Amino acid sequence: MVNRKKLGIVGAKVLLVDDSDVTLHVIKSYLTHHGYSVITASSGKLAIELAGKESPDCIVLDLMMPDMQGDEVTRRLKADKELQYIPVIMLTAKSDRETIINCLNSGANDFITKGYDPRVLLERVNGQVRMGKLQKELQKINAVKDRFLRMASHDIRNSISCIKLLTGSVIDGLEGPVSEDQMDVMNRIQHQTNTMLNLLNDILDVSVITSGELKIKPKPHSIADVLKEAFEGFVPAAKAKSITLNWAVPDNISPVTFDYNRIMEVTANLLSNAVKYCKPGEQVELGAKAMEEEVQVWVKDNGQGIKEEELPSLFNSFERLSSKPTGHEKSTGLGLSIAKQIMDLHKGKIWAHSEYGEGATFIFSLSI
Ligand SMILES: Nc1ncnc2c1ncn2[C@@H]1O[C@H](COP(=O)(O)OP(=O)(O)OP(=O)(O)O)[C@@H](O)[C@H]1O
Ligand SMILES: [Mg+2]
Repeated sequence: MVNRKKLGIVGAKVLLVDDSDVTLHVIKSYLTHHGYSVITASSGKLAIELAGKESPDCIVLDLMMPDMQGDEVTRRLKADKELQYIPVIMLTAKSDRETIINCLNSGANDFITKGYDPRVLLERVNGQVRMGKLQKELQKINAVKDRFLRMASHDIRNSISCIKLLTGSVIDGLEGPVSEDQMDVMNRIQHQTNTMLNLLNDILDVSVITSGELKIKPKPHSIADVLKEAFEGFVPAAKAKSITLNWAVPDNISPVTFDYNRIMEVTANLLSNAVKYCKPGEQVELGAKAMEEEVQVWVKDNGQGIKEEELPSLFNSFERLSSKPTGHEKSTGLGLSIAKQIMDLHKGKIWAHSEYGEGATFIFSLSI
């Protein structure tokens, strides 16, 4: 080697994957010379295994391999929660448009065509290793922020629960007589307190779920039971807005395995939306049907619906779209993201279709 200075990120770990021993040898020598610690794999399967065991800072991956192509390896890495942030640079023999689009589409962070200048490869690796390190830093900071948010929400929730208890005791007459005006003020305090408690519960839910700490407790239950409980909870709100709630759940669906409280939360979030985004006189239906391998539950309304271009971001956190509450209800944009994450924990699905102006249908499914 002509250049004696180490131009790599000394000590960073690179996983090099190629079915050609010669390529492995040449790139390994070059990267090692510049300070990288290099491990090698001669197949896609081995690469995925080593990525899990060795946590490399970057993966340099050949596209054409006999057992598993590089784009498939990348797809699997990017679908794995533990491995998805490891940067992948794809090595391709071809440089045509289709090949490059395919590489990037599979989730590769960068690509380089074979016959490259080794120095260019080194700089690409340096760039990706730097990005990966920044990503790790961000994740750490994010985890600290989540923990802080959780602690703060938890403590604030305790104080607000106290205010709720104390105002409740005045409203119930336990603290002696109050005037009509004072009662009106107390009722308003209690209403605001409930709104704050709901918001804090949602924030806590999101933070517990995203930190991976929410564990569900699935057991066999009747789907009709959980849906009935959620449905009944919304009868007063629907009545207050003159919205008709229709029940379309058969009694004879065999028990399904799920976490009762969490599936009730999903159903309640969907019903709450339907009632919130419908106007007086409109209709909401809660229904279910058993299919061959799953039970599907739907909440269907004939309200304002959702714009087609907004459907893909429906389940993102804090996503409030063009459809607005019709009765001054609060809208934080958390309900559907919580529902989606609960369904993911159940290995179930949740999706929606809508014709803007004609209403929306939300469906979730649980395997039998
Ligand atoms: N049934 C529906 N009809 C029309 N738009 C809807 C419906 N359900 C959800 N949306 C749209 O999707 C957005 C996201 O819904 P989501 O339940 O996540 O949040 P939110 O209802 O705004 O607040 P939160 O549920 O946290 O109180 C809503 O702001 C609304 O624009
Ligand atoms: Mg909602």
